[in-house]
This record gives sequence, C-alpha cells and structure tokens, in this order.
Amino acid sequence: MQTTYKELGLVNTREMFAKAVKGGYAIPAFNFNTMEQLQAIVQAAVETKSPVIMQVSKGARNYANGTLLRYMAQGAVEYAKELGCSNPQIVLHLDHGDTFEVCKDCIDNGFSSVMIDGSSLPYEENIALTKKVVEYAHQFDVTVEAELGVLAGVEDEVAAEESHYTKPEEVIDFATRTGCDSLAISIGTSHGAHKFKPEQCQLVNGVLVPPPLAFDVLHEVEKKLPGFPIVLHGSSSVPQEEVETINKYGGKLEAAIGIPEEQLREASKSAVCKINIDSDSRLAMTAAVRKVLAEKPAEFDPRKYLGPARDNMKKLYMHKIVDVLGSNNKL
Ligand code: G3H
Ligand code: 13P
Ligand code: ZN
Repeated sequence: MQTTYKELGLVNTREMFAKAVKGGYAIPAFNFNTMEQLQAIVQAAVETKSPVIMQVSKGARNYANGTLLRYMAQGAVEYAKELGCSNPQIVLHLDHGDTFEVCKDCIDNGFSSVMIDGSSLPYEENIALTKKVVEYAHQFDVTVEAELGVLAGVEDEVAAEESHYTKPEEVIDFATRTGCDSLAISIGTSHGAHKFKPEQCQLVNGVLVPPPLAFDVLHEVEKKLPGFPIVLHGSSSVPQEEVETINKYGGKLEAAIGIPEEQLREASKSAVCKINIDSDSRLAMTAAVRKVLAEKPAEFDPRKYLGPARDNMKKLYMHKIVDVLGSNNKL
C-alpha cells in the first residue's frame, strides 16, 4: 500500500522554491543518516523558523534502512510541532536517485521530492529517464530535481574525471522536454571535503582561496529559464576550525578545501534556491566526537559524545541558515 507524503505532514518543493527564488534566499538541503543529524536539523530549522529539506542518499538508505529513515522523517514533523512550530515546512527528498525504480520506491513510500541524477548519461538518455520519473512523480504531486552537467569528483557511483559545466544552451530544451521542477547545475562545486587542490588556490592572509564559481554560467542559465529553481550540489564550505579540531585530536585530514561561504551567499540571492550540504555536517560531527574521546578517554556512553556532536551540527546548520542561505524567518 502506498504511503503519501501528505499523510506524513511533509510538503513538496514547489511552493517553497517559488518563494525562495522570489525572495532571494535558498532552502538548506541537509543529508541525514543518523538520529542525531535529524534532531539537529529539526531543532535548527525550528529555532530559525526556516523551511528545510532533509535528504536521503542511496548510501543512507543502505546504511540506515529506507523504511526507518521514512518513519524518522515522519517523526521529524511531529518533533518540530512539539518544539513549538505549528506549521513545519519539511521536505523528504531522495538525493542522487540513479534509477527509475529507486525513485518510484521513494515516491510510493512517503518521499515528497526525488532527484533523478541522469547527469552521467548521454543527453537524450538523461532526458528520457528524467521524463519517465517526472511522469510518475507528478501523478502523486511529488516534485522532481534533475541534473545537467557533471560535477567534478565522485558523484555517488558516477566518477567524473573533470568538471563539465552545464551548457546554458541546453537548459530550455531539457527543462521543457522533461518537465522537471528544478535543475541541479554544474558551476564548479563538487562533492566531499577536498574540492580543490592547494595548487588551484591563492594564498590570501594565510587562507587558501579557491577559484570562484562560474557565476557567468549561472547567470546565463537564469536568463534562459527566468525564475526556474536552480540547485547547487557539493556546497560544503569545509570549515577550517572543524578540520583543525579533527587533526588536533588524532585525525588526518589534509588539504581539505570547500566553497567559500561568501560565494554561496551570493548564489542564494539568485535563482539558486536549494543548496546541498553534507560534508560540513560530517566534519562538525567528527570534530566533536574526536574531541570528547580524546579529552575523556574513559568515556564510553555514546550519549556523551554523540550529544556534543549533535550540538555542534545544530550550530553549523543554524549558521548556514542565518548567515549563508538566508532562509530564516521564511515559514
Ligand atoms: O552527494 C553525496 C552526498 O554527500 C551523500 O553521500 O552517498 O556517502 O551518503 P553518500
Ligand atoms: P557536500 O559534499 O559539498 O556537502 O555536497 C553534498 C551534496 O551535494 C549532496 O547531494
Ligand atoms: Zn550531491
């Protein structure tokens, strides 16, 4: 039997994105795999009065079980209400769906939004697969994110040798023929905590500053598709204080470099209305856990290190919402 997301109190992205594009801010899309991440996301969204997208990757489904994650998302809506938010705007989104079948499974089981990532496929095949998912999803008022252009680095199981920026001349044809609700584009972001090599960066006041995102490509896309919701993947900033904490307490993260927050702030003011952040949360969690375990080696109650990890992630999420994306007070 199908469980619709509306029964779970979730919303799709349609209205949320329309408001964000018009209002010049972006909705945070935070990945979650654990209860602590989910708690931190909900607490941060409620306290900042922000809409939020909770996203689940294929890896998360394998790790935590898809059914359990769905019920956790349902719990998140109730938890937000319990925290005093009478009208939570929470999307449960499949991140990087790679087949029609996985998208259908999520649509049939309470997701309010799915991504079909056909970006590694030849253009016409990406269109055909995306269209098939859109036709199924729209019967249930589930929104669909598609991707055009390939991000540098490893995109789930899709390895790209180099970044292939989105070609602005393709976006009208792609959006029209697929009927997708939002489009992830490639303008220089990439997944993970090592987005640039140090030799690609400039040293400014002791800080490695990476080359800027291709805002010219973004603006071209905006001109072709006025008001159409644009998505940025790979948008972690890799906070250096978290990297330093990790390394101070036994970690070994070398040359971890992300996207400067200033550039994400600028992107949020454009048609970019969804910004994906996962690695920063992993760094915040790992830094807090390492610190507690290093300072209190006799500690073995998981709540004593996962609690601080949760607090650190919440702080990070609130910072992103308020200081970078500007989605606070938008409920
Ligand atoms: O886009 C990738 C996300 O960060 C999810 O990563 O596949 O390791 O869960 P994952
Ligand atoms: P980061 O690895 O930069 O956090 O990107 C996450 C992402 O794009 C999830 O789809
Ligand atoms: Zn991604």
